[in-house]
Amino acid sequence: MGVKTIAIGSDHAGYPLKEAVRAYLEEKGIGYIDVGCYSPKRFDYAISAQKACDKVVEGEADLAILCCGTGVGISMAANKVKGIRACCCSDYFSAKYTRMHNDANCLCMGDRVIGEGTALELVDVFINTEFEGGRHQTRVDQIMAIEKGEKLY
Ligand code: RB5
Repeated sequence: MGVKTIAIGSDHAGYPLKEAVRAYLEEKGIGYIDVGCYSPKRFDYAISAQKACDKVVEGEADLAILCCGTGVGISMAANKVKGIRACCCSDYFSAKYTRMHNDANCLCMGDRVIGEGTALELVDVFINTEFEGGRHQTRVDQIMAIEKGEKLY
Protein backbone atom coordinates (compact mmCIF):
# COMPACT_ATOMS: atom_id res chain seq x y z
CA MET A 1 0.00 0.00 0.00
CA GLY A 2 3.04 2.28 0.36
CA VAL A 3 2.92 5.43 2.47
CA LYS A 4 -0.14 5.41 4.66
CA THR A 5 -2.24 7.97 6.45
CA ILE A 6 -4.12 6.69 9.46
CA ALA A 7 -7.34 8.18 10.85
CA ILE A 8 -7.42 7.75 14.62
CA GLY A 9 -10.27 8.31 17.03
CA SER A 10 -11.71 7.32 20.38
CA ASP A 11 -14.29 7.95 23.05
CA HIS A 12 -13.31 9.08 26.58
CA ALA A 13 -12.54 5.51 27.73
CA GLY A 14 -10.27 4.91 24.75
CA TYR A 15 -8.66 8.34 24.91
CA PRO A 16 -5.45 7.26 26.73
CA LEU A 17 -4.87 4.42 24.25
CA LYS A 18 -5.64 6.66 21.28
CA GLU A 19 -3.07 9.11 22.61
CA ALA A 20 -0.52 6.28 22.85
CA VAL A 21 -1.30 5.32 19.24
CA ARG A 22 -0.96 8.96 18.18
CA ALA A 23 2.45 9.25 19.89
CA TYR A 24 3.54 5.99 18.24
CA LEU A 25 2.56 7.17 14.76
CA GLU A 26 4.26 10.49 15.43
CA GLU A 27 7.46 8.73 16.51
CA LYS A 28 7.41 6.49 13.42
CA GLY A 29 6.78 9.43 11.10
CA ILE A 30 3.47 7.99 9.93
CA GLY A 31 0.86 10.53 8.84
CA TYR A 32 -2.37 10.60 10.82
CA ILE A 33 -5.62 12.50 11.17
CA ASP A 34 -6.81 12.67 14.77
CA VAL A 35 -10.61 13.08 14.77
CA GLY A 36 -10.77 13.17 18.59
CA CYS A 37 -11.84 13.03 21.25
CA TYR A 38 -9.20 15.36 22.62
CA SER A 39 -9.60 14.89 26.39
CA PRO A 40 -10.85 12.28 28.86
CA LYS A 41 -14.17 14.19 29.11
CA ARG A 42 -17.20 12.03 28.28
CA PHE A 43 -17.53 11.61 24.52
CA ASP A 44 -19.66 9.08 22.61
CA TYR A 45 -17.76 6.53 20.54
CA ALA A 46 -20.12 6.43 17.54
CA ILE A 47 -19.22 10.03 16.66
CA SER A 48 -15.48 9.33 16.49
CA ALA A 49 -16.09 6.05 14.66
CA GLN A 50 -18.10 7.77 11.95
CA LYS A 51 -15.67 10.70 11.65
CA ALA A 52 -12.59 8.47 11.30
CA CYS A 53 -14.26 5.97 8.98
CA ASP A 54 -15.55 8.76 6.75
CA LYS A 55 -11.90 9.81 6.27
CA VAL A 56 -11.15 6.28 5.01
CA VAL A 57 -14.10 5.96 2.63
CA GLU A 58 -13.53 9.49 1.33
CA GLY A 59 -9.89 8.59 0.58
CA GLU A 60 -8.22 11.03 2.99
CA ALA A 61 -6.92 8.14 5.08
CA ASP A 62 -5.91 4.59 4.15
CA LEU A 63 -6.84 2.93 7.42
CA ALA A 64 -8.58 3.83 10.69
CA ILE A 65 -7.54 2.91 14.23
CA LEU A 66 -10.19 3.37 16.91
CA CYS A 67 -10.19 2.93 20.69
CA CYS A 68 -12.97 2.73 23.27
CA GLY A 69 -13.24 0.90 26.58
CA THR A 70 -13.76 -2.54 25.09
CA GLY A 71 -13.11 -1.79 21.42
CA VAL A 72 -16.48 -3.39 20.76
CA GLY A 73 -18.89 -0.45 20.68
CA ILE A 74 -16.64 1.60 18.44
CA SER A 75 -16.17 -1.38 16.09
CA MET A 76 -19.93 -1.88 15.86
CA ALA A 77 -20.36 1.79 14.93
CA ALA A 78 -17.45 1.64 12.45
CA ASN A 79 -18.94 -1.37 10.68
CA LYS A 80 -22.13 0.64 10.01
CA VAL A 81 -20.16 3.01 7.76
CA LYS A 82 -20.45 1.75 4.19
CA GLY A 83 -17.07 0.57 2.89
CA ILE A 84 -15.64 -0.13 6.34
CA ARG A 85 -14.47 -3.54 7.49
CA ALA A 86 -13.59 -3.06 11.14
CA CYS A 87 -12.11 -5.70 13.42
CA CYS A 88 -11.95 -5.49 17.20
CA CYS A 89 -8.62 -7.11 18.09
CA SER A 90 -6.83 -8.04 21.28
CA ASP A 91 -4.28 -10.41 19.78
CA TYR A 92 -1.51 -10.23 17.20
CA PHE A 93 -2.76 -13.10 15.04
CA SER A 94 -6.19 -11.53 14.50
CA ALA A 95 -4.72 -8.10 13.74
CA LYS A 96 -2.44 -9.67 11.12
CA TYR A 97 -4.93 -12.01 9.49
CA THR A 98 -7.77 -9.51 9.39
CA ARG A 99 -5.55 -7.53 7.00
CA MET A 100 -4.38 -10.60 5.05
CA HIS A 101 -7.72 -12.34 4.69
CA ASN A 102 -10.47 -9.76 5.33
CA ASP A 103 -8.79 -6.64 3.96
CA ALA A 104 -9.86 -4.92 7.18
CA ASN A 105 -9.49 -1.17 6.93
CA CYS A 106 -10.22 -0.36 10.56
CA LEU A 107 -8.57 -1.73 13.71
CA CYS A 108 -10.46 -1.31 16.98
CA MET A 109 -8.99 -1.88 20.43
CA GLY A 110 -10.15 -1.66 24.04
CA ASP A 111 -8.22 0.47 26.50
CA ARG A 112 -9.77 -1.54 29.34
CA VAL A 113 -8.86 -4.85 27.67
CA ILE A 114 -5.25 -4.68 26.49
CA GLY A 115 -2.16 -2.83 27.58
CA GLU A 116 -0.33 -0.20 25.58
CA GLY A 117 2.50 -2.57 24.65
CA THR A 118 0.18 -5.11 23.05
CA ALA A 119 -1.86 -2.36 21.40
CA LEU A 120 1.17 -0.87 19.68
CA GLU A 121 2.23 -4.30 18.41
CA LEU A 122 -1.25 -4.68 16.92
CA VAL A 123 -1.01 -1.24 15.34
CA ASP A 124 2.35 -2.09 13.82
CA VAL A 125 1.29 -5.41 12.30
CA PHE A 126 -2.06 -4.02 11.13
CA ILE A 127 -0.42 -1.13 9.29
CA ASN A 128 2.37 -3.22 7.80
CA THR A 129 0.44 -6.26 6.58
CA GLU A 130 -1.05 -6.37 3.10
CA PHE A 131 -4.23 -8.04 1.87
CA GLU A 132 -3.51 -11.37 0.14
CA GLY A 133 -6.34 -11.13 -2.39
CA GLY A 134 -6.98 -14.30 -4.39
CA ARG A 135 -9.64 -16.50 -2.83
CA HIS A 136 -10.02 -13.97 -0.03
CA GLN A 137 -11.14 -11.30 -2.48
CA THR A 138 -14.21 -13.39 -3.32
CA ARG A 139 -15.13 -13.55 0.37
CA VAL A 140 -14.57 -9.84 0.94
CA ASP A 141 -16.76 -9.19 -2.12
CA GLN A 142 -19.46 -11.29 -0.46
CA ILE A 143 -19.24 -9.19 2.72
CA MET A 144 -19.63 -6.05 0.66
CA ALA A 145 -22.55 -7.57 -1.25
CA ILE A 146 -24.38 -8.08 2.06
CA GLU A 147 -23.76 -4.39 2.78
CA LYS A 148 -25.45 -3.57 -0.55
CA GLY A 149 -28.48 -5.65 0.45
CA GLU A 150 -27.73 -8.50 -1.93
CA LYS A 151 -28.62 -12.09 -1.03
CA LEU A 152 -25.73 -14.59 -1.04
CA TYR A 153 -28.04 -17.63 -0.97
C1 RB5 B 1 -17.75 3.75 27.88
O1 RB5 B 1 -18.01 3.66 29.27
C2 RB5 B 1 -17.77 2.36 27.27
O2 RB5 B 1 -19.05 1.84 27.30
C3 RB5 B 1 -17.25 2.40 25.86
O3 RB5 B 1 -15.97 2.93 25.85
C4 RB5 B 1 -17.12 1.08 25.15
O4 RB5 B 1 -16.47 0.15 25.94
C5 RB5 B 1 -18.33 0.55 24.54
O5 RB5 B 1 -18.31 -0.46 23.83
